[in-house]
Amino acid sequence: MFPEILWAVPAAGLTLPVSAAAWHHWSPHTWSYGPGLVGSALRVHLTWDHVSQGCGLSVTRRKTQVKGGVRRVSVEKKPKLRRFRPTPFGFRVRARLHDGQTPDDYQEALTRLAHAWRVDSVRIRTSGPGWVELVASRRDPLGTVTNAAPAPRDWELLKVRMGTLETGDAWVIDFRAVPHWLIMGATQSGKSTDINALVYQLAPQPVALAGLDLKGGVELTPYAKRMSKLATTRAECTGLLDDLMGILNDRMNQCREAGVRNIWQLPDDVRPMPVVVVVDEVAELYLMTDKSEKDEIARTSTLLLRNAQLGRAFGLHLVVAGQRVGSDLGPGVTALRSQITGRICHRVNDGETAKMALGDLAPDSLSAAMRIPAEMPGVAVTVGADGRWYRVRSDLTTEEMAEEASAEFAYLAPDWDALVSGRTKEKETVPADNAVDWDRLEEELT
Ligand SMILES: Nc1ncnc2c1ncn2[C@@H]1O[C@H](COP(=O)(O)OP(=O)(O)OP(=O)(O)O)[C@@H](O)[C@H]1O
Ligand SMILES: [Mg+2]
Repeated sequence: MFPEILWAVPAAGLTLPVSAAAWHHWSPHTWSYGPGLVGSALRVHLTWDHVSQGCGLSVTRRKTQVKGGVRRVSVEKKPKLRRFRPTPFGFRVRARLHDGQTPDDYQEALTRLAHAWRVDSVRIRTSGPGWVELVASRRDPLGTVTNAAPAPRDWELLKVRMGTLETGDAWVIDFRAVPHWLIMGATQSGKSTDINALVYQLAPQPVALAGLDLKGGVELTPYAKRMSKLATTRAECTGLLDDLMGILNDRMNQCREAGVRNIWQLPDDVRPMPVVVVVDEVAELYLMTDKSEKDEIARTSTLLLRNAQLGRAFGLHLVVAGQRVGSDLGPGVTALRSQITGRICHRVNDGETAKMALGDLAPDSLSAAMRIPAEMPGVAVTVGADGRWYRVRSDLTTEEMAEEASAEFAYLAPDWDALVSGRTKEKETVPADNAVDWDRLEEELT
C-alpha cells in the first residue's frame, strides 16, 4: 500500500521552490546571507576548476605521473581560493596568485568571472603580496537613489559622508587624510550635489567656508550665509586667494614658533580653524576673454597653486569642481591638478577628460569612468586616501538642504577679516627679513 506520508512529497516539492522564490523576492538581503550565500559558495568552489581555466587564471605545470609507467605530463593548476565571506550585496573571496601572476591578470578576467559566477560585477577590493581579494556583487549597489540623511550632530571634524561605495560601504571624504579634492564631470553629472553635501555636512562643524564662483555666483550664493567670503568676480577671486596666502603665512609663522610642522600638532586651544575653499567651474578662472586679463589670470593661477601646495599642512583645503581641467587652459591648471590627490570623476563626455581626472593616479579606472550612464547622476569613480579607485554614488543632498543648513549655522561662520588678520595685526612689527622663504619651506615640507 502507498504509505500516506509519501503524499507529502509532491506537496513539499512544490512548496519549497515557491517559498524560496518568495523569500528571495521579499527579502533579498536575508536571502543573500542564507541560501543565496550557500548557492554562491557551492557554485564558486565546484566550478573553480574550469572557470579559472576559462578565465586564463590557471597555469600549466609539468608533473611526474606514475600511473601506467613513469612519465612527465602537463597538468592545469588552479589558484587556491580562501576566506569566502558574505557582503551586503554578494560575497568576497581571496585567490592566491600563482608565481608570475600579478593582480593585473585578475583585472583583465573580472568580466569573465562575473558571467561565470552569475553576478552583476566582480571587482578587486584589495591585494597583497601573493593574493587578491575579489568582491562579487549580485546587483549594482549604486543602482538606487538614496536621499541624504539628516546631518549627524556627532560629526567628526572635516569628515563628510558623501554616499555609498560599490562594495556597499559608506563613501567618506576625510579632508585630514586627503586635503584637496577635484570634482569633475559633464553637465548634470552630479558635481553640484557633491558640493551641496560638503556644505550641508561641514556647516555645523567649526570650519570656515569660502567660495570662488565665476559663474556669476549662481552656484554658491545660496550658501553665502555660512561662507565667510564668497568671490564672484575675477578681482574678488584674486583678493580672496591673496587673503588665503596671508592666512597661510600667519599659520606658518605660528607653527614655526611652536616648533611643529603642521597645525594639527598645535595644542587644541591655539589651533587655527580649518578653512575649506570651494571653487566652482574652475575653467572660468583660467579663461581669457581679452588680453588685458592675462596677468590677472597668471596671478590667480599662481596663487591657487601656492594655496594647494602649502595648504595641506596649515588647514587650508580646496574643493575644485569643473567640467574639464585640460592643459589647454594653461600649465597652471595641470600643476594644480597634480597637487590635488583626491579625485571624483562623474560621467564625462570624452576619454580625455577622464584621463585628466584619473589617468595619473588610477589609469585602470578609466574604462569604469567612461561607462557611467547619463541616467545615473551622482555615480562617479573616486580615488582617495588609500590610493585605490572605487565606483561610488553620492547621496542626493539638495540645494535646499544645503541652503537651510547654511542659514541655520550662519552664526558659526567666522568673520573673514578677523580670520585673515587675527594674528598678522598683532605682529605688524615683524621685520621684513623675517618673511617666509616660500621655496625653502616648501622643500622642508616635501
Ligand atoms: N546622487 C544622486 N542621486 C540621484 N540624483 C542625483 C544625484 N546627484 C545628482 N542628481 C541629480 O542630477 C541632476 C544634476 O545634478 P547636479 O546639479 O549636481 O549636476 P552638475 O554636474 O552640477 O551640473 P552642471 O554642470 O549643469 O552644474 C540634479 O537634478 C540632481 O537631482
Ligand atoms: Mg553644477
